Amino acid sequence: MLDLYIPMLTNIKSITSENKVNDIKTFEFVFQNDDDLKNFNYVPGQFAELSIIGKGECPIGIASSPTEEGSVKFTIKKMGTVTSQFHKSEVGDVVGIRGPLGNGWPVEDMKGKDIVVIGGGFAFSTLRSLTEYILHKDNRDKYGKLTVIYGNRDSGETLYKFDLEKWEKRDDIELVLTIDREEEGWTKKVGFVAPVVKEVSPSSKNAIAVVCGPPIMIKTTIAVLEELEFGDEQILNSLEMRMKCGVGKCGRCNIGNKYVCLDGPVFSLAELKKLPNEY
Ligand SMILES: Cc1cc2nc3c(=O)[nH]c(=O)nc-3n(C[C@H](O)[C@H](O)[C@H](O)COP(=O)(O)OP(=O)(O)OC[C@H]3O[C@@H](n4cnc5c(N)ncnc54)[C@H](O)[C@@H]3O)c2cc1C
Ligand code: FES
Repeated sequence: MLDLYIPMLTNIKSITSENKVNDIKTFEFVFQNDDDLKNFNYVPGQFAELSIIGKGECPIGIASSPTEEGSVKFTIKKMGTVTSQFHKSEVGDVVGIRGPLGNGWPVEDMKGKDIVVIGGGFAFSTLRSLTEYILHKDNRDKYGKLTVIYGNRDSGETLYKFDLEKWEKRDDIELVLTIDREEEGWTKKVGFVAPVVKEVSPSSKNAIAVVCGPPIMIKTTIAVLEELEFGDEQILNSLEMRMKCGVGKCGRCNIGNKYVCLDGPVFSLAELKKLPNEY
């Protein structure tokens, strides 16, 4: 039985630098105890509290897909105390994991629908998880058309280059990559995410749009999705509120009567519109 207060011990198996300035890294962890691996059943969009003993704990979205067995991956941007400590870690170091936490993307309810994944900047980790999950051979025929639109300031900031190359070779995903400004050697789209979404114009019929990114990108993209007649129930977003316990006890993350750690972090636009504007 999983106790969400007790960190499970893992070791770092690999560390991948994701961007040019080297402040975003993907860490792959293996559980020390086989039972912990079996108990860590997650869906894309969930998160976990990651801890380094003596340094602290922080919530991070799960970047791997449950279909990638044997380990779990997290992409961490260097921000402050704990995340900087992760960036000093080495392969083999011990890391505690409490989780999986939160609700995640509603992958069951999304079955039979076209999926439009829209990401901006480094907030792409749980979108990577979702895309990998849908593309898995056991899942791909359970979903309709898959469109992924992913934008970054420049090509050096684009995460998961290995996965993007792999996805690009497939014919069951429409992958649209964009960067803010022209760059030598860049052959994909140039421009902000929202106008690119407008240009791609995904159909809203029987579709779900999943949007993650900086607030301005979310705002402008939602406006475009509304123009394309996506209803509030068809637009999903994941919130990154400050958190402590991650399990609905400390009251650190609540918005109105909702705990982001427990009721979220994934909310539909319809749900968000009912909450006080504190996110
Ligand atoms: C559900 C969820 C999923 C997340 N997923 C990821 C992820 O996949 N990758 C990732 O790198 N980060 C993610 N974060 C953000 C991450 O938790 C924070 O960056 C981290 O807690 C900072 O800890 P620290 O000790 O390094 O920084 P601190 O020393 O605590 O703070 C450093 C700076 O960051 C600010 N800060 C701290 N926490 C937050 C926050 N939650 N939102 C905005 N500003 C904050 C502080 O005000 C301060 O300015 C997620 C947060 C949530 C709630
Ligand atoms: S983080 Fe403690 S209640 Fe949500």
